Amino acid sequence: TVTPQQIIIDTDPGIDDAMAIFYALASPELDVIGLTTVFGNAHTTTCTQNALRLLEIAGRPDIPVAEGAHRPLAMDYRGPADFVHGIDGQGNLDLPAPETSAIAQDAAHFIVERVMAAPGRITLCPIGPLTNIALALLLEPRLADNLAGIVLMGGNAFGGGNASPAAEANILNDPDAADIVFGAHCPIVMAGLDVTEATFITGEQLERIGTVDNPRARHAAAILPFYREFNQREAGRDGIYVHDSTVISYLLAPQHYRSVQMPIRVDCGHGVGRGKTWPAIDRHRRGAWERRPDVTILTEVDAPAVVALELGRLGLSR
Ligand code: BDR
Ligand code: CA
Repeated sequence: TVTPQQIIIDTDPGIDDAMAIFYALASPELDVIGLTTVFGNAHTTTCTQNALRLLEIAGRPDIPVAEGAHRPLAMDYRGPADFVHGIDGQGNLDLPAPETSAIAQDAAHFIVERVMAAPGRITLCPIGPLTNIALALLLEPRLADNLAGIVLMGGNAFGGGNASPAAEANILNDPDAADIVFGAHCPIVMAGLDVTEATFITGEQLERIGTVDNPRARHAAAILPFYREFNQREAGRDGIYVHDSTVISYLLAPQHYRSVQMPIRVDCGHGVGRGKTWPAIDRHRRGAWERRPDVTILTEVDAPAVVALELGRLGLSR
């Protein structure tokens, strides 16, 4: 047997975050050693409650949750994406309060402590704004050297944004943090809209989740209709884009993705391009891109293969 890969999921749950967390917990190849929370889809305190509830639903209340930043590094929080995920981040389900609580340590300190205690072992999996990861990198300059890597959902290298014409939501929620993270000298994989908007679960597949009899699938089936309606309005297609779960699919099955290696800078200005992730080809690796590390930017995906993998892990046989 292979030792499972240790991951920390940094999250703003979020309907697709819930799917990604359940997917990771259902995958024996991965050992989720903690969840850290951040604002984004909802306020940080709401996201923390959701993270705790999701672990209870999945039967894993033993996994620690560390609450993170309440606001971006250098701007005000843009506010909840209630039209995407509901005001509670979980499709307006009005869930009961969790029985467990977050640990006393904050997210950045938790990340630093765990990573430094297991050099080269832990992969960070951010699926929300990158504030906690930036704070952890600033707190401990040796953090990047001690990480196995970072596999994140965010950005748009070669296409348009979803939160603005220029930017993807996680990056637009804290561009300064994202620019720090993309400058970290450790293996970084960017699963951005380039691949997440190429991965689609159809309405018919979503309905079948409702037929699966396990607590994770039941919760997923309860929250997904809200997200499905948003996607229907936004994309004009019945189903959902698979954003956050792409991080888990990549960890489990990197062979289903194609990528390029380029450094990334984030537009931290206050003009129309704010939050855009700009890759540079070698000829342009100058100025702001000079001495910036290569990022593995996912560009293509075998979507049917990764959707089948995820639905299988959630309990659907085909
Ligand atoms: C990202 O933004 C959030 O709404 C989702 O949870 C995902 O992390 C997609 O742009
Ligand atoms: Ca998210």
